[in-house]
Amino acid sequence: NWTTGSVIEEQVAAIREQVGDRRAICGLSGGVDSAVAAALVQKAIGSQLTCVYVDHGLMRKGETEQVEKDFVAATGVQLKVVDAEERFLKALAGVSDPEEKRKIIGREFIRVFEQAQAEIIADQGPAVEFLVQGTLYPDVVESGGGTGTANIKSHHNVGGLPEDLEFKLIEPLRKLFKDEVRMVGQELGLPDEIVQRQPFPGPGLGIRIVGEVTKERLDLLREADAIAREELTAAGLDRDIWQCPVVLLADVRSVGVQGDGRTYGHPIVLRPVSSEDAMTADWSRLPYDVLAKISTRITNEVRDVNRVVLDVTSKPPGTIEWE
Ligand code: XMP
Repeated sequence: NWTTGSVIEEQVAAIREQVGDRRAICGLSGGVDSAVAAALVQKAIGSQLTCVYVDHGLMRKGETEQVEKDFVAATGVQLKVVDAEERFLKALAGVSDPEEKRKIIGREFIRVFEQAQAEIIADQGPAVEFLVQGTLYPDVVESGGGTGTANIKSHHNVGGLPEDLEFKLIEPLRKLFKDEVRMVGQELGLPDEIVQRQPFPGPGLGIRIVGEVTKERLDLLREADAIAREELTAAGLDRDIWQCPVVLLADVRSVGVQGDGRTYGHPIVLRPVSSEDAMTADWSRLPYDVLAKISTRITNEVRDVNRVVLDVTSKPPGTIEWE
């Protein structure tokens, strides 16, 4: 007899029992799972929870503010935001290879997150024993069902901390599927923009720029992506598509004409897909008038973009993301 109310009640009681008067940390990614897990734990233990959000500068327009403002307003959670944009951009400078980019972003992310954890422990003391994770049922099945502790090596010396920080895990979503997580999030009062969010890759816009990642290119892609999202939402298509990556071909230029002059700008790729589980996908047959509106707006409003192209490849052979 499954209701969101009973799941929440059960988890809140279990988390209180598990944590007692000790403390927990939770990393927020901007995604649904970590947000709902954090909101549940917040409901259970309130100010004994501290959330950490690493701003790697690779988020889409408005997403960091969504976490910093809307999520905090909805939950009252204690949030530590680490602005690491410069650090990530520096680490990514000169790198075009997709796998290399992913490795760098992953590595920097762990370092920044661990440093934040260490600072929280330095601040709050050894009572910080728990790490909250938004593990879902499909993740549990995939990884063989294990649970327990996370052993985190600290690369940073923050005032006399142990070299190895061992956390016990809190995983309140372990029995839930994605749609159930969304229902729990909604019941907990999280904003729709967070609860109904489409998938977005951890490495963010870093893997949606084909070529080197720079601040200027990120800003440009953020503008184009915001326009595409705005028009898809306005057309009521958010529930019909799985996600729509917007990709900047930063190393490609093509000739165009705008006003009286010749331009030599970059193409933007729209990659709308429909899918059940992201393992396979088909390109979405979006209405032509919506595509036309997005194309017109992007080429009019985004400097240096003079062409918008549509990706009509299914997965396989194409992946959903371009990198
Ligand atoms: P691909 O490109 O492999 O993507 O067809 C499948 C799904 O996974 C998402 N994706 C990621 N999600 N970290 C994530 O959390 C990643 O590194 C990552 N790479 C791809 C992608 O957006 C799609 O939903």
